[in-house]
Amino acid sequence: MSLKNIRLEVMQAIEPKVQGFMDSFLIPIEEIWQPSDFLPDSQNDNFFTETEQIREEAKELGYDFWVTLVADTITEEALPTYESWLMDVEGIDQHNGKENGWSKWVRAWTAEENRHGDVLNKYLYLSGRVNMREVEITTQHLISDGFDIGTDRDPYKNFVYTTFQELATNISHKRVGKMAKQQGNALLGKMCNIIAGDEMRHHLAYREFVKTILGQDPNGMIEAFADMMKRKIVMPAHFLRESGESIGTAFEVFSNCAQRLGVYTAQDYIEILKKLNDYWEIGNLGGLSDQAEKARDYLMKLPDRLQRISERMQFGQDQYKFKWVEANGIL
Ligand SMILES: [Fe+2]
Ligand SMILES: [Fe+2]
Repeated sequence: MSLKNIRLEVMQAIEPKVQGFMDSFLIPIEEIWQPSDFLPDSQNDNFFTETEQIREEAKELGYDFWVTLVADTITEEALPTYESWLMDVEGIDQHNGKENGWSKWVRAWTAEENRHGDVLNKYLYLSGRVNMREVEITTQHLISDGFDIGTDRDPYKNFVYTTFQELATNISHKRVGKMAKQQGNALLGKMCNIIAGDEMRHHLAYREFVKTILGQDPNGMIEAFADMMKRKIVMPAHFLRESGESIGTAFEVFSNCAQRLGVYTAQDYIEILKKLNDYWEIGNLGGLSDQAEKARDYLMKLPDRLQRISERMQFGQDQYKFKWVEANGIL
């Protein structure tokens, strides 16, 4: 039997549990927050006063902050890319006539995620601090370019990736929110925090998918995990470009901003990996094949190895001028 068929069988075996995962980790549409809960109501006469307040408060936030918030927004706005990618994964099937739990999950997850880009985009627009046209061009590029995160159609690799990414976005939104709050931007602080809460629920869900797969196919799962870590978890922001530039050119300078601000750092990457090793009990899995044993050793040693590398790592102090943030927004 081919490797791919084992994955398909495992996905089919878990499928009846997906509704339970949805009930535990997602919130019913009629009950969950919506962007309008946080933004000035344009049907209300207070709209202009409240918008004026947003614009005043926004003046307190610095250049690196805006660049990071813009990049966070754009990667949230690229949801069509992730949804189309996941729908194509082995075992996630929207075609065979009957309702497939996995495709239902992908749609419901996408629908929750979609609110993140929505609320941030509207906030950026009202803030008066960014060049929306440039932001929009970058978003369109990112969706049009698509990206290869190295997960193929493999559900195991894809779920490792999403588990990792959801926690990474939880951390970065939470930190951005805290910074906004500290600088007197209470509304933006609240928005980022509530987004971070969604990311955490999603992280817990994907983490559970992997745990469940580990119970069924520990060898395959652990090898897929090691393989993802070997090629590194590439952030969606990796593929960012500004107008007139080529794919990926904006990533390094953005990443420098995020590192300088401390919003998402190499240390966070290491901490996430440690947490995943712990929760999935990688160190305690028994009865593994030789190859899976090797993968386990690699994963258990990786945090220390990355720690040594990160201590030598330096990031640029450049003040690259993004087209997204206007000159009046600098520092
Ligand atoms: Fe999100
Ligand atoms: Fe997310």
